[in-house]
Amino acid sequence: MKPNTSYRLGASVLLANSLLKVHASPQASPAVSLLFQNDGNWTNYANLPSALIFYDAVTFDEAEAICRANNETLLSSTSLKALTQQFTYLEYLKDITPTTRYWISTGATTPLSSSNVSQAQPREKLQFLCTNSAPHTTIVDTDFSASPRTTVTSNGIVYTGTRDHLTFRFMGIPYAQPPVGPLRFKDPEPWNGTAVDATFFKPVCLQFGFFGSDDFGLMPWGNSEDCLNLHVFTPYIPSSNPSKSAPALKPVLFWIHGGGNTQGTGEDATFDGGSLVSRTDSVVVTVDHRLNIFGYLGLDDAIKGNYAIADKVAALQWVHDNIAQFGGDPERVMIFGQSAGGSSVIELVKTPKARGLFSAAISQSGGGSPVWQNYTAAAAAVLPELNVFCNSTGAERLACLQALPADTILNITNTVTTWMGVVDGEYVVNDTVSQVSQGPSGVNSVAYMAGFMPEEGESLLGTTIAPNMTEFDPGSIVGEALGEKILASGLWNPSASFTPYNATIYVYTDWLLTCPAEEMITAAANADTFPSLYVYEMQRAYALSYFDAYDLCTFPVGNIEPPYYRCHSGDLYEVFGTYYIFDQPVRNVRDIEYTTMIQDMWGSFARTGNPNPPSAYLKARGYQSTLDVLSHFTWPQYTAASPRVAQLQYPGISTGTLPDIGRCVIIDS
Ligand SMILES: *[C@@H]1O[C@H](CO)[C@@H](O)[C@H](O)[C@H]1NC(C)=O
Ligand SMILES: *[C@@H]1O[C@H](CO)[C@@H](O)[C@H](O)[C@H]1NC(C)=O
Ligand SMILES: *[C@@H]1O[C@H](CO)[C@@H](O)[C@H](O)[C@H]1NC(C)=O
Ligand SMILES: *[C@@H]1O[C@H](CO)[C@@H](O)[C@H](O)[C@H]1NC(C)=O
Ligand SMILES: *[C@@H]1O[C@H](CO)[C@@H](O)[C@H](O)[C@H]1NC(C)=O
Ligand SMILES: *[C@@H]1O[C@H](CO)[C@@H](O)[C@H](O)[C@H]1NC(C)=O
Ligand SMILES: *[C@@H]1O[C@H](CO)[C@@H](O)[C@H](O)[C@H]1NC(C)=O
Ligand SMILES: *[C@@H]1O[C@H](CO)[C@@H](O)[C@H](O)[C@H]1NC(C)=O
Ligand SMILES: *[C@@H]1O[C@H](CO)[C@@H](O)[C@H](O)[C@H]1NC(C)=O
Ligand SMILES: *[C@@H]1O[C@H](CO)[C@@H](O)[C@H](O)[C@H]1NC(C)=O
Repeated sequence: MKPNTSYRLGASVLLANSLLKVHASPQASPAVSLLFQNDGNWTNYANLPSALIFYDAVTFDEAEAICRANNETLLSSTSLKALTQQFTYLEYLKDITPTTRYWISTGATTPLSSSNVSQAQPREKLQFLCTNSAPHTTIVDTDFSASPRTTVTSNGIVYTGTRDHLTFRFMGIPYAQPPVGPLRFKDPEPWNGTAVDATFFKPVCLQFGFFGSDDFGLMPWGNSEDCLNLHVFTPYIPSSNPSKSAPALKPVLFWIHGGGNTQGTGEDATFDGGSLVSRTDSVVVTVDHRLNIFGYLGLDDAIKGNYAIADKVAALQWVHDNIAQFGGDPERVMIFGQSAGGSSVIELVKTPKARGLFSAAISQSGGGSPVWQNYTAAAAAVLPELNVFCNSTGAERLACLQALPADTILNITNTVTTWMGVVDGEYVVNDTVSQVSQGPSGVNSVAYMAGFMPEEGESLLGTTIAPNMTEFDPGSIVGEALGEKILASGLWNPSASFTPYNATIYVYTDWLLTCPAEEMITAAANADTFPSLYVYEMQRAYALSYFDAYDLCTFPVGNIEPPYYRCHSGDLYEVFGTYYIFDQPVRNVRDIEYTTMIQDMWGSFARTGNPNPPSAYLKARGYQSTLDVLSHFTWPQYTAASPRVAQLQYPGISTGTLPDIGRCVIIDS
C-alpha cells in the first residue's frame, strides 16, 4: 500500500537536507547488509534476487531517496518473498524480530509474512529494503568501473569499494608501503595514505608461472613489485556511528594462497569471496604478499629474510585494526590456506609475531613445514647467483641489490627455485614438531584443523611421470636412499589394480605432504597443544580448470562418481564455490551438496572453533542438505586417545584414521 502521494511530493524538498546529512559525511553512513540466499546451485545465482537491508529507521521518502542514491529502488514484494529464508536467519541472529516492519516499494511490511503490508504513516521511521541490481561477477577480468560505490572510513582512511550480486567488495587495499627502493628486502612499513580506491584489483607480485602474465587468462591485472594489498569481501557494513544498535560483527576468514612460495595471488578469481561470504555470512579477506626471492632472500643481519611472513603478519595486523568497520569481528579471525598457503598457516601458528591476531586456523594440504633453513644454508643456495650482480657483503650488498632492476632480481628465481623461511629467532624460532610438542605455550594455541587430498601427488607430479609407466622407481622421486627403504617395506608395491603410476603418486603424496602433516598432528595431539584439533581427508575433489594432469583429477558431467584422482588443489572450488567464474559445470548434484557442506563446516569453524554447525543455525538458514548429513554425523575432535579423522564426502561422510600412518613410519625413518 503506497503512502499518500501528496505527502511524498511535499517531502522531497525536505529530502535534500536529510540526504546531505546521510551522504555528505562518511561518518553518518548507515548500517547495511547484502542479502542473498546461497543454495549452492552456482549455475542459477544470477537468477536469484539480491537485496540491501538498511538498519537505520527513516521515513518512506528518505528510504526511497537512499535507495536511489545507491542507484537502486525500494524492493518489490515479489523479491521480498523470494528472500524469506534470509529473514528467518536474521531473526535467528536476533537482528530483527518477527514484528519488525520495513519499507518496501508498496509500503510497510513484516518480511516473514510478506502478504501483510500494513497501513503506515509515511512519516513513520522504519528500516528499509532496496534492490541490489549490481551485476554478478562471472569472469576473471570483470570491470567494476560502472558498479555501485560504497565507502567505509577506518582510522581516518576512506576506502571506496563496490558491490556485486553476492557481496560488497574492496579490492587492492594497501596494508603496507610498497616494498620498493630502500624498502626492498625490508620488513613492511605501515601505509600512510588517506584514501584508497578499492574498486579494482591492482598488479600482483612479481613471479613466473600461471600468474606471471595473462597467458593463461587468469591474471589480467599485471605484475609489480608494489603488491602488498589485501582484498575484503563482506556481507555487512556497520554504521560508522557506534551508538546505533546494529547486527553483530561477522567472523573473518583470512585466506593465504598457495603456489610454492614463488607463485600465486589473493586476486586469483578462484578465491573470489562472493560464494563463501553469502553462504557463511562471514567476511572473507585474501592477501597478496611478497613471493620468491623478494619474500625470502635471507643472508645476514642486513638481509634477514622472512619478508613474506612479515607481510602476512602486517596484513593480519591491518585486519585486527580495521576489519570491524568492514563488518568483521577482530576477535574471530580464522586463518586458512592451501598448499604453501597451508604451510603459511603453520608458520603463523608458530611465530610469536602473530600472537593474538587470530583465533582459528585451517591448513589445507599444507604439510608440516618441519624444517627451515639456517642463514648458512640459505646463503649458500643463492650467493653464486647474487655475486654476479652484487659481490660485496652486509649493508653494501643490500644497497647494491636495492638498486638493481626488479626483473634482474626476479630472474634469480628461475635458477634458485626453492624459497623458504630462515631461522631468525624472531619470525621463525624453531622447527614445527619442537614447538608443537611444547604444548599450548609453544605456539599460538588456537582451534586448529588440518587435512589432505588422497592423491595430491598426481597434479603435483604433473607430466613428469605418465599413467602408462611400467616401472616403480620411488628413488627417482624421493632420492635413492629413501627409495630403497620404500621398496624394501613392500608398503607401496604395485599390484594388478594398483599400477606403478598409482604407487608413485602415493609415495610422492606421503613424502611431500601427508607424513609431515601427520607428524605435526600426532605431536599436537600428544601435547594437547590446541584447544581443539580436527583432521580431515577429502574424499571428493574438483580439479581446477587449468590444473588437471592427463584429465584424471575430475570426472565427466552426468556421472555418478567413478574412480578419479582427488588431486592437490581439488579442494579449492569446493571451499570457495567459485566454479561459475571458470565455467565449470555441475558434474552431478553432489557437487552442490558437498561444496555447501564444506562451506558450512569452514564457516562454523571460524565462528566457534568447531566445524559442526548447530542444527538450529542450519535450519534458520534453510541449509537442508547439510542438515540431512549432520543430523546423523558429528565430526569428532582428533585426540591422542581417539585419533579420528573425518572422511569428508556427501552423503557418505564417516570417520577413519590417519591415511598413511604405517607408511609414514618408513618415510620418517
Ligand atoms: C540449478 O539451476 C539450474 C538453472 O540454472 C536448474 O536447471 C537445475 O535444475 C538446478 N539444479 C539443482 C540441483 O537444483
Ligand atoms: C500484520 O502486521 C501487523 C503489524 O505488525 C500485526 O499487528 C498483525 O497481526 C499482522 N497480521 C497478520 C494477519 O499477520
Ligand atoms: C550511480 O550512478 C551514477 C551514474 O552512473 C554514478 O555517477 C554514481 O556514482 C552511482 N552511485 C553509486 C552509489 O554507485
Ligand atoms: C609516507 O611514507 C613514505 C615512505 O616511507 C614517505 O616517503 C612519505 O613522505 C610518507 N607520506 C606521508 C604523507 O607521511
Ligand atoms: C645449517 O644447515 C645445514 C643444512 O641443513 C647444516 O648442515 C648446518 O650444520 C647448519 N649450520 C648451522 C650453523 O647450524
Ligand atoms: C666484484 O664485482 C666488481 C664489479 O663488477 C668486480 O670489479 C670485482 O672484480 C668483483 N670481485 C670479485 C671478488 O668477484
Ligand atoms: C630475465 O631473463 C630473461 C630470460 O632468460 C631474459 O630475457 C631477460 O633479459 C632477463 N631480464 C633481466 C632484467 O635480466
Ligand atoms: C628448539 O626446540 C628444541 C627441542 O625442543 C629445544 O631443545 C631448543 O631449545 C629450541 N630452540 C629454541 C631457539 O627455542
Ligand atoms: C606413455 O604416455 C606418454 C604421455 O601420455 C606418451 O608420450 C608415451 O608415448 C606413452 N608411451 C607408451 C609406450 O605408450
Ligand atoms: C590406479 O590407477 C588407475 C589409473 O592409472 C585408476 O583407474 C585406479 O583407480 C587406481 N587404483 C587405485 C587403487 O588407486
